Amino acid sequence: MENDIKAEAEKLRKELNEHGYRYHVLDDPVISDAEYDSMMERLIEIENQYPELAVPDSPTRRVGARPLEFFETAVHTIPMLGLDNAFSEQEVEQFHARIKKNLGINDPVYTAEPKLDGVAVELRYEDGVLVRAITRGDGTTGEVVTDNIRTISSIPLSLPSAEGVPSPSILEVRGEVMINRKDFEHLNRERLERNESLFANPRNAAAGSLRQLDSKVTAKRPLDMFVYGTGTYRGIGFHSQKQMFGVLKTLGFRVNPLIKSDMRISDVLDYCRKLESMRESLDYEIDGLVVKVDDVEMQQALGEKIRSPRWAVAYKFPAMQETTSVKEISVQVGRTGVLTPVALLEPVRIGGVTVSRASLHNADEVARMDIRQGDKVLVMRAGDVIPKVVKRVGDRTADDPPEFRMPATCPVCSAGVRRIENEVAYKCVNASCPSQVKERLKHFVSRNGFDIEGIGSRLSEQLVKENVVRTVADLFALKKEDLVKLDRMGDKSADNLIRAIEKSRKIPLKKFIFALGIDYTGESASGLISKEFGTLERIMDAGKDEIEAIEGIGPKTASAVAAFFSSPENRSVIEKMLACGVDPQPVTHDAPAPSNDAFKEKRVVLTGSLSSLSRKEAGEKLELSGAKVTSGVSSATDFVIAGENPGSKLEKAKELGVTVLTEEQFLSMAGIY
Ligand code: IVH
Repeated sequence: MENDIKAEAEKLRKELNEHGYRYHVLDDPVISDAEYDSMMERLIEIENQYPELAVPDSPTRRVGARPLEFFETAVHTIPMLGLDNAFSEQEVEQFHARIKKNLGINDPVYTAEPKLDGVAVELRYEDGVLVRAITRGDGTTGEVVTDNIRTISSIPLSLPSAEGVPSPSILEVRGEVMINRKDFEHLNRERLERNESLFANPRNAAAGSLRQLDSKVTAKRPLDMFVYGTGTYRGIGFHSQKQMFGVLKTLGFRVNPLIKSDMRISDVLDYCRKLESMRESLDYEIDGLVVKVDDVEMQQALGEKIRSPRWAVAYKFPAMQETTSVKEISVQVGRTGVLTPVALLEPVRIGGVTVSRASLHNADEVARMDIRQGDKVLVMRAGDVIPKVVKRVGDRTADDPPEFRMPATCPVCSAGVRRIENEVAYKCVNASCPSQVKERLKHFVSRNGFDIEGIGSRLSEQLVKENVVRTVADLFALKKEDLVKLDRMGDKSADNLIRAIEKSRKIPLKKFIFALGIDYTGESASGLISKEFGTLERIMDAGKDEIEAIEGIGPKTASAVAAFFSSPENRSVIEKMLACGVDPQPVTHDAPAPSNDAFKEKRVVLTGSLSSLSRKEAGEKLELSGAKVTSGVSSATDFVIAGENPGSKLEKAKELGVTVLTEEQFLSMAGIY
């Protein structure tokens, strides 16, 4: 009996590890989340019942272990060195000249890799099992963060002993633990809501998450790891950096896709420019490019200095942080009336863009950093995110102006300002405050709402100021005559706008709910509520308790939604919209019956990201309409559905002459919208 159970546990672990790898590293799952979860539940059940069967590389370990009192430290078997910096292409060329001279060769081959801005960590595997993880620390000694590292889904807990790949008896893998920009923003938004201090940047968020004594906290943080090197290893080998990445990939590690091998110096310099131009569009932060001599023997011949190897150099991009001074702290009013302090800055160039304002988030953050008019501050830009003040630099003097205080009345409409109980936010109490109306309008027409193109910040402001739009319902009663009399509105733009509004009337229910801009009700809550109730009427009549009963909806959202729909003003705006032909589409519970058998018994491959549903949801819908969803494209494939950034599967489909569908074509064929 015990033996059967043991075998079952082993099988579950193996399968869970494989499926986890497909999902987190390859981004190509072959089973549903529900199947994965039920396998995991079974394994947890077995390990609870038979604790002697638990092993250190069980996927159940990913949820975190008992909290520690402090971090132990450990010494790296080989020190983790740093890198020399090159701040210009010329300095990269100087590095190249030294390499040529030292090696006595003409045209050395390099690899060039993004320099990831996270936390350096070393993982140690013994006989294929992850036994220890240490932070870089001072290069010699670091902190032991094994329990925390085990919670990171893209890190293998054990190495596959695949055919052809010898299983190493010892392998130390080094890399960078990081948080991508979107997850960082999300984490900070949650912290802001909970009144916790904010992380200054993704690197700090990654470091803070990795240095949690309670690994259950780390498990909730969206950490990820790319590997870029090794420490001690036995039982495997490689002659070049390029081969090393090949081996690490086969062993299940995530290797950054932007690493390029076989580069001559001119390619390296081209790549420096290219990567710098891509920098802000990447999902994660990089602060430069690491150039390494590819050949391992050459690396050894070059050797190292005290703190850094001679065979590598870091080309650093210009900093995304600069200091400047605060001319004034102004206060903006958002769509829910929340007052946000904004620093108006002495304009400063940061990473090629002039920055003249930066968010200060809320009164508590201003107080925490103690920012006042005239202060010198460090300002950071990160991708397309609004620039923010990181901290004050320099000391306070007696002549400084007094501390910042939130105004007692709204700076836009002069109505009263209230601090919401248990929250950081101050709010303008006047729902018809022009600033609130304008921001609500902008939110209403945004991409995840009514998606009406052509109404930007300037037009929203005009529409509100000229009293053309008092509530969002007025949009649907707009006539061309109303628009052409606005300043700088041409005949053609007016036509286009009227057409865009017309087109937006038929709208998925969840987008309609999102567009209303109810407090605490973002995209995901709007989706859950729409799915639960199915129609607008039912949502409007739902009580707080009914809404709160939905899994994933908290009490704040439930109260806000119930309160929103019980307000007679809000109900009348909605009724007016419906009277003007706005038509929120009910959600049907089962997948909507396909309009025909377009996908029945067809082999379908999904690639790229879809905008109106996830790949997984799309896969489920397809399966419900009788399709077989597969991951690889072959001549047997009937359709490839290509979303954004489709990649190699699309190429392959074109090569093989497989029919390619856009997202719209797929949705309409499947009868979804
Ligand atoms: S190689 C001996 N490659 O940069 C080679 N380092 O200043 C040493 N880093 O703390 C490291 N991305 O955390 C290497 N692709 C990459 C890297 C990288 C980021 C960090 C690493 C280290 C620091 C070195």
